[in-house]
Amino acid sequence: MTRIGWYGLGSMGLAMATNLQKHLATKPNALNLLYSNRTMARGDPLKLLGATAESNFQKLVGQCGIIFTMVSNDAVLTNLITSALESGHSLHDKIFVDCSTVHPTTVGLTVSRLQEQRASFLAAPVFGGNPIAVDGKLVFAIAGPKKASDVVKPLIQDVMGRKVIDCGEDATKSSLLKIAGNIVTVNMMEAVGEAQVFAEKTGLGTGPMEELIMDAFGPVAGGYSKRLTSGVYAPPLGSRPGFGVSLAIKDANHASAMAQEHQVELPGLQVSRDNMIAAREYGGECLDSSSMYGILRQKAGMEFWNEKSRKGGK
Ligand SMILES: NC(=O)c1ccc[n+]([C@@H]2O[C@H](COP(=O)([O-])OP(=O)(O)OC[C@H]3O[C@@H](n4cnc5c(N)ncnc54)[C@H](OP(=O)(O)O)[C@@H]3O)[C@@H](O)[C@H]2O)c1
Repeated sequence: MTRIGWYGLGSMGLAMATNLQKHLATKPNALNLLYSNRTMARGDPLKLLGATAESNFQKLVGQCGIIFTMVSNDAVLTNLITSALESGHSLHDKIFVDCSTVHPTTVGLTVSRLQEQRASFLAAPVFGGNPIAVDGKLVFAIAGPKKASDVVKPLIQDVMGRKVIDCGEDATKSSLLKIAGNIVTVNMMEAVGEAQVFAEKTGLGTGPMEELIMDAFGPVAGGYSKRLTSGVYAPPLGSRPGFGVSLAIKDANHASAMAQEHQVELPGLQVSRDNMIAAREYGGECLDSSSMYGILRQKAGMEFWNEKSRKGGK
């Protein structure tokens, strides 16, 4: 059996790896998951489920035929691939599967670098936040060599995800879909934030507004509303936000750069991005992507913080 490795145990990665390890544990012949992370202690719950820790990523690469990565950004992914290429292990026939949100250019470069060592790369970014990852109900977009995606899809479908959108053999295409999808995500967070500030200031109240958003616009929009009314847009200092504001700014930057290249205007995305940047300047890194709400509150003459969020600090 091919050993499966996992690097990256953040808000999304830990939930996804947990579902993968639980799945492997049900297969009589499957080897347990080998995991690694910059902060190894994040993997303790995985160890309790039977996974094995390996603090050295190069050693993990040496032992595994399929290696998943779920990390913050392009630079972290590129460093991991460099580390794999410099590990001294043969990468022949290994499959690297990256689930992070990275720019299609990063994907293209990664494909070429790995191809030189006759390894495959699948870009498999995901849609859905931490609670959906915990439930194993993410939507994946996958692209790369068919032979590799045929091997990997059964590890995703009904394990970590409810749906796999196959974007074909060009790995940049799933990354492109992810960037395009995030234009909707970021605009929707801005729209929900604006509606909730409007509801509060006009005396309508955030409760009826949330009920309407949930029922009329669906659970995704409703989930964004809950991030505001439950205060998790500004979680306690030292905790890990559900979807860190810097990650969403990175996604918006990727979309903006591609839009400029193709002479497309994204005015809504621009507004949301500026509000996220302003939120980060005011409240620091420990903010969720929905924290543009704090700036919308300030613009309406209210405090950045609401009654359920943390009350200051950065
Ligand atoms: N959160 C969401 O709702 C969501 C949804 C869809 C897609 N995404 C995308 O999925 C990816 C992961 O998101 P996340 O929310 O899980 O992020 P996260 O909670 O910030 O976790 C990031 C992961 O990357 C690692 N990392 C960060 N900097 C590193 C470095 N310099 N060297 C080595 N490892 C490093 C972290 O290690 P430590 O544990 O040591 O910090 C952690 O494992 C991102 O690309 C994000 O845009 C997120």
